[in-house]
Amino acid sequence: LSNGLGLTPPMGWNTWNHFGCNIDEKVIRETADALITSGLAKLGYHYVNIDDCWAELHRDSQGYLVPKKATFPSGIKALADYVHSKGLKLGIYSDAGYLTCSKTMPGSLGYEEKDANTFAAWGIDYLKYDNCNNGDTKPMERYPVMTRALMQTGHQIFFSLCEWGDMHPAFWGANVGNSWRTTNDITDTWTQMISGADQNEVYASYARPGGWNDPDMLEVGNGGMTFEEYKVHFSIWAISKAPLIIGCDVRNMSKETMEILGNQEVIAVNQDHLGVQAKKVRMEGNLEIWAAPLSGYRTAIVLVNLADNFGSPDNVIVHWDDIGIPPDTIVQARDLWEHKTLKQHYVNKMSAHVGIHQCKMFVLTPISKH
Ligand code: DGJ
Repeated sequence: LSNGLGLTPPMGWNTWNHFGCNIDEKVIRETADALITSGLAKLGYHYVNIDDCWAELHRDSQGYLVPKKATFPSGIKALADYVHSKGLKLGIYSDAGYLTCSKTMPGSLGYEEKDANTFAAWGIDYLKYDNCNNGDTKPMERYPVMTRALMQTGHQIFFSLCEWGDMHPAFWGANVGNSWRTTNDITDTWTQMISGADQNEVYASYARPGGWNDPDMLEVGNGGMTFEEYKVHFSIWAISKAPLIIGCDVRNMSKETMEILGNQEVIAVNQDHLGVQAKKVRMEGNLEIWAAPLSGYRTAIVLVNLADNFGSPDNVIVHWDDIGIPPDTIVQARDLWEHKTLKQHYVNKMSAHVGIHQCKMFVLTPISKH
């Protein structure tokens, strides 16, 4: 969407994956604080996003949305002011239907202008727009109404379409929103994380600055996967130019979680201004190679071993042919998880051993011969 936003994939945090409906203004404030003190904000995680369940079930007598009195007593404007005072941005959630998915609050269908104006007046910077309880009409009829409503507020609001991929939003999303979900909800499991990544990959050619495929928010730090599996999760999301929206409790992060979410070199791949989403360029048995061009004639690759059992082949051979590097190019490789530049230079191919449910991530830079 040409609203000047999302020139690189959005980064931030959202309540849903960890807290579900169990949210209040205290969690939002403390999370904003934690983003600052942990250093995550400085790395680019700027959006603090409230998901479902923040409003009363009924609008007020004039039809305005009402923040839930029990959990958001100070109101959303005060929260936005707080979050802004920290140099961060506040996101909110609504639904292109009559009720949101939780059915605990109204959706915006039929109230698009009113709600867009309300969000703008509160100082909202990001809207996630869900797709439940919509009376079975097509998303292409409902989503653009909110796009126009947001545009006419004159405020810059990142518009995140949460249509789950059913009507192939990659085909039409670029004129409607800044990102679009390509999958159902992620769960905190290896199998679903991998299948979501694959489903999202199909639409790689539709991603571009201003409009991104969204395989759903991160589960890193929520406990359902191993440290190495979460590295795979984060690496694939990063190279796929997916929104990096943290879904754990950042007030109580382990060192390992911070090591993953705070990996500046991996984040830099995600935020590279070329904005080209990776494709899976080769699969051999359980070994796969994801590759994406970066600015400066560099190439990012993620090598993944999907095997469940020890003893399966684990040597991944990367041919320049497969990843779009011209023949005979001499390449320097930077390992983004080891934070090491490999001493050896490579011509036409390189190889690496990757353990089961693990990955390696490299940035390859062409070097001249002398
Ligand atoms: C469905 C969405 O896909 C989730 O990310 C979350 O927003 C829930 N709805 C909230 O009810």
